[in-house]
Amino acid sequence: MTTATRLTPSVGTAHSRVEGVDKVTGAARYAGEIPFAELAHGWLALSTVARGRIRSVEADSVLGMPGVLAVLHHGNAPRVDTDHVGLLGVKPEPTTALFQHDRVPHVGWPVALVVAETSEQAREAAEALVVTYEQEPHDVAFSAGRPDAYAVDSHMPGVTEKGDLESELAASAVVVDAEYTTPEEHHNPMEPHAATAHWDGGRLEVVDSNQGSTWVAQELAALFSLEPSAVRVRSEHIGGGFGSKGVRAHQVAAVMAATALQRPVRVVLTRRQMFSLAGYRSPTAQRVRLGADADGRLRALEHHSLSVTSTVHEFVEPSSGPARVMYDADAHRTANEVVRLDVPTPTWMRAPGEAPGSFALESALDELAEKCGLDPIELRTRNEPEAGPVSGLPFSSRNLLACFREGARRFGWADRDPRPGLRRDGRWLLGTGTAAASFGAGAAPSTAALTAEADGTFTVRITASDIGTGARTALTLIAADALEVAPDRVRVRIGDSDFGFAMIAGGSMGTRSWGWAVMAAAQELRERLALGGGIPPEGITVRSDTSAAVGALAQKERHSFGAQFAEVAVDVTTGEVRVRRMLGMFAAGRIVNPLTARSQFVGGMIWGISMALHEEAVRDRTSGGHVGADLAGYHVAAHADVPHIEADWVDDPDPDDPVGIKGIGEIGIVGAAAAIANAVWHATGVRHRNLPIRPDRVL
Ligand code: MOS
Repeated sequence: MTTATRLTPSVGTAHSRVEGVDKVTGAARYAGEIPFAELAHGWLALSTVARGRIRSVEADSVLGMPGVLAVLHHGNAPRVDTDHVGLLGVKPEPTTALFQHDRVPHVGWPVALVVAETSEQAREAAEALVVTYEQEPHDVAFSAGRPDAYAVDSHMPGVTEKGDLESELAASAVVVDAEYTTPEEHHNPMEPHAATAHWDGGRLEVVDSNQGSTWVAQELAALFSLEPSAVRVRSEHIGGGFGSKGVRAHQVAAVMAATALQRPVRVVLTRRQMFSLAGYRSPTAQRVRLGADADGRLRALEHHSLSVTSTVHEFVEPSSGPARVMYDADAHRTANEVVRLDVPTPTWMRAPGEAPGSFALESALDELAEKCGLDPIELRTRNEPEAGPVSGLPFSSRNLLACFREGARRFGWADRDPRPGLRRDGRWLLGTGTAAASFGAGAAPSTAALTAEADGTFTVRITASDIGTGARTALTLIAADALEVAPDRVRVRIGDSDFGFAMIAGGSMGTRSWGWAVMAAAQELRERLALGGGIPPEGITVRSDTSAAVGALAQKERHSFGAQFAEVAVDVTTGEVRVRRMLGMFAAGRIVNPLTARSQFVGGMIWGISMALHEEAVRDRTSGGHVGADLAGYHVAAHADVPHIEADWVDDPDPDDPVGIKGIGEIGIVGAAAAIANAVWHATGVRHRNLPIRPDRVL
């Protein structure tokens, strides 16, 4: 290295985002606003019926409208290849097989794309476009106890079981048997989905807003039967994703239109269209049965979850997952079932499975603590497993109790009177609650390129995706430490599929997986530079691929853990619930950038408030569509709903990661809704097992 002095490590100290100034000054361009010469605009027309066939798309009548260039639909669109398995090991989501047949499986299914010179012209024509249907009866009624529910093995085992549940329940001194529901919930990233496609010298280039540019590039190459090297996807700045920003209808529509017209075409989803085209979190109906000895030791644990999927694709919200990690019992049973309805296919939404699953499980634990006359933290302490309850594998590290101890100390838990309904502040009843959190801590293979430039700076190129998490900054700090230079000598370029394969921003695995690849590249570069010989004008570039190293990770239960605390006030006259303060303590690996990490945790906890009190997408059974599919009708927590939130962490470096990272993207929301619901019980003495805890449910 050119500097001999060893610097203070960058990892672990607070750094503002390296692209922060660009973002607040507007210099950072997003997918929907990057200029292109000759740009045309596509507007999707969506089905208004919930099930049936398209009888006609009356394109002729809009082709004469001002600026209209084309109308694509199942009668004229190019064929795509849907017979492939994508990067995530699943077949393409059928909504991306755009305009391939006349069947309509749900309201909001894309039936046509109108392309025009301006976005306004495209929209006007799309709204004027008449599509006629042969309608069939539909069913969108989700509820517990559907006879057509079935267990699924698509992502993980649908059912796990050991021991004799009924006899352990019968032998238990204390039993909790409760049903919980969570509603359909939607990701609403600030930036709606947007893509611009164009052909550039025989290559397809798509400027997009996504969680993984190699992922989207590979899927588009497969769909359009192109060589992978013939597709380039760029996604430099992203205004939020939360699981919704993979390959979706808008990129495919843009590619079809750009191919047909041989000019750049942009397709942007509206907020309303996102409610049917971007995926969502399935509603769940869960049943938890717990049986314990009088001292609180679990003898029986059953967590059964039902979620919805569409008629065209199977997606499971695996809400019984947390029970497979958190608590053991002599008899232990978990089940994830789905039912197929005439609705859009759900997808990953921040902490898929863990978010709704932890609401049910951690509420049930609180009910058990009450029945046993035990403090809820003491109950959890008595049920800490030695190994994975289902897998039997050792935990890579499990610092849940450290989170509870430190959280309880800071929150003032020791002074809590466990009896419900006793504290009053004017017309408000006050209560506190707690819940545990966990989320998987995995790593996935990635590649990175690292260049030592002739001017003494370094350039990292990696197909990472910064969806607002601060990943770009985290990678800058990791590279700086690995190279033993100051962060201002490192530039990190991300969001370009030409940089090679890398993990997506998902599963809380992005920064960890990319950081690993950056570490590997830095190590090799240092070895090269140590040989001496100077740096040529084009620099010295090395490439890393972590496939072998990640593949060699020993089988263990790998998770982050956390303890959530909430204080609520419940208005006895209106039923309004206000969260007064929250504290989250996490054991989530080494924290790379405390500034953005805290924001990430707090963001998850705010979403937990939103989940507990506000969010609920309502489906109208008659039409099969949503009531109020926008941010006026679909309530999310606003600033006025969010109190002082504290998030912090205990020391918990991952022993098997080169940086010590576990991943923090999703755990912030896990357990948050249960902590709030448990606090509402403590305030009022009433259990709320159905989210959201609306005023009409409180009264
Ligand atoms: Mo996350 S729901 O894995 O994007």
